[in-house]
Amino acid sequence: MTVDDLIHKDVDITSYTTFGIKVKAKYFAEYSNVRQLEAIMRTPEYQQNEVLHIGGGSNLLFANDYNGFVLHSRIEGITEYRKNDTTVYVIAGAGVKWTDLVDYCVEHGLAGLENLAGIPGEAGASAIQNVGAYGVEAKDHIFKVECYDRLSHKIVNFTNEECRFGYRDSIFKHEAKGRYFVLRVCYKLTPCTIASDLNYGPLKSLAEQLGHAPTLHDVRNTVIAIRNTKLPDPRIIGSAGSFFKNPIVPAKFYKNIVLARDPETPHYELPDEMVKIPAGWLIEHAGLKGCRLGGAEIYPKQCLVIANTGNASAAAVMGLCTHVRETILQKYGILLHPEVNIIDTDIHVEILGSGTSKGVPEPGCACEVCLSSDSRDKRTRASVLVRTHGLTLLIDASPDLRYQILRSGTKDIDATLLTHQHYDHVGGIDDLRTFCMDKDMPVYMRHAVSEDLHRRLDYCFRKHPYPGVPTFDVHEIDKAPFYIEGLKIIPITVMHADLPIVGYRIGNFAYITDAKTIDDEEADKLKGVKTLIINALRHRPHFSHFSVDEAIALINKIKPQEAYLTHICHDMGLHEIIDRQLPDNIKLAYDSLKLLIK
Ligand code: EPU
Repeated sequence: MTVDDLIHKDVDITSYTTFGIKVKAKYFAEYSNVRQLEAIMRTPEYQQNEVLHIGGGSNLLFANDYNGFVLHSRIEGITEYRKNDTTVYVIAGAGVKWTDLVDYCVEHGLAGLENLAGIPGEAGASAIQNVGAYGVEAKDHIFKVECYDRLSHKIVNFTNEECRFGYRDSIFKHEAKGRYFVLRVCYKLTPCTIASDLNYGPLKSLAEQLGHAPTLHDVRNTVIAIRNTKLPDPRIIGSAGSFFKNPIVPAKFYKNIVLARDPETPHYELPDEMVKIPAGWLIEHAGLKGCRLGGAEIYPKQCLVIANTGNASAAAVMGLCTHVRETILQKYGILLHPEVNIIDTDIHVEILGSGTSKGVPEPGCACEVCLSSDSRDKRTRASVLVRTHGLTLLIDASPDLRYQILRSGTKDIDATLLTHQHYDHVGGIDDLRTFCMDKDMPVYMRHAVSEDLHRRLDYCFRKHPYPGVPTFDVHEIDKAPFYIEGLKIIPITVMHADLPIVGYRIGNFAYITDAKTIDDEEADKLKGVKTLIINALRHRPHFSHFSVDEAIALINKIKPQEAYLTHICHDMGLHEIIDRQLPDNIKLAYDSLKLLIK
């Protein structure tokens, strides 16, 4: 078999997902061993496209056809290695069906995975997603994960600790995302036919009901029976299991905000003064049970699930998801987060502000731009919102942030990325507190910016902050790419006179502000972007900002399909006139401008 036989073009991959929503991939390939994987990786189809590795597709929602390369493992085989009377290692190929693995273990008297019976998907994904149900998570039994490293082209092993497992979470969803392909997973199990994890609600009374200590078979069958009463069978009704995660919020927030709104709201206590709230309960009690939108439905037997009743589109599922999130936010003050991986390569950008540090109009100025009645000549301080892959990211928190957020109708921000510490880019940080009620806002910035903010906004970083102030989960970044919930972000360093500024590239989109110079190595990181937003203060040169000509020179070097100029001052001239004078692929940005990058 040659590598050409492995790679297929324009493939319908609907049957590789469980939602039953039609989806195609530009390229699709499956491999049964590392040799085939390496051959695929050498092809131009693989190298020149965005790559997505899927498992059983039971946790995916494609928002649109995938304009890239989809890979799937067919590495099969289950092998057993008996260490001693109390430990058996079971090694499963990434492509082994999860239910086959659980059945194998139950049949062979190997205890550990029986509570995880009936979960759709494959063994490889169990390590990425840390699947969990009925009191057990995959991490409780994963011993080692064997992966292919796309960077070093070597096979590497991750220990359980190195996988940094969390609730439906692992290192493979964060910094290791996209770098490793899981080849095999090794589980550490106990040779025993009697089940031991019986602490979860419906399993607690099983021994009493049966009149004997439940066997692995008993637990497997009971779990499958419970699942069948609550969860749709993906062969009949499309879904991706739980659509939302159960929110984990500070105990104080639960007590002061959630309970104040509904004293009946259940919770489970967690370490570190946090509590977990069942999202299914919130959705049901917000009156959303059975709520429908174009064929997508809040599954009445388990409100955590969005079901495809037959002809739902991805847009309908996403629309229902947004409706649920907005309703729960309004009623309980909690923002739910999808547990499903939303694959949405479309990037929606909204210019929140396109003005320089003083904004336009400048207070007290009587120039024709400042007096213009054209709304495009009214420029608040520079910042943008980027929505993609189910995430909403804010780049810079300008002093006009409160107004900008209200104007755009933004209900949620998943993370904030800062370009630098100048007041016109961070002055609105306190206004982020609305989005910090149930979480610490993740903020990505350089070390120097973080230091500066710790000094200026010390009240946000105290051990016991005044209730209600914004709180942050600080991520210091340098020149290396980083990941936000699996989304790759490439920082690009530019210079604002002698101050380093971070621009950000997300897929085919890049945002750069306050640049005066950029070196070749950093400019190379912009190659291939379709849409570039870049600062241009005015026509006349400035010591720390690009002029229009300087910005155009960079645009001509990068050659994006389209570019927008931002961080504009009143000296630029009237939008109506200047915009028409620019080359065809270059436009002036303006406040509230919305862009779609495919
Ligand atoms: N509840 C409601 N209404 C509903 C759904 C749930 O009031 O529509 C209440 C239940 O009565 C219960 C509580 O919410 O008091 C929790 O419900 P349940 O025990 O069914 O668990 P869950 O939180 O809804 C989680 C996992 C499931 C897993 C079950 C069982 C997540 C996101 N989901 O659901 O995992 O099977 O526990 O352990 O953690 C999946 O990941 O796809 C999945 C199905």
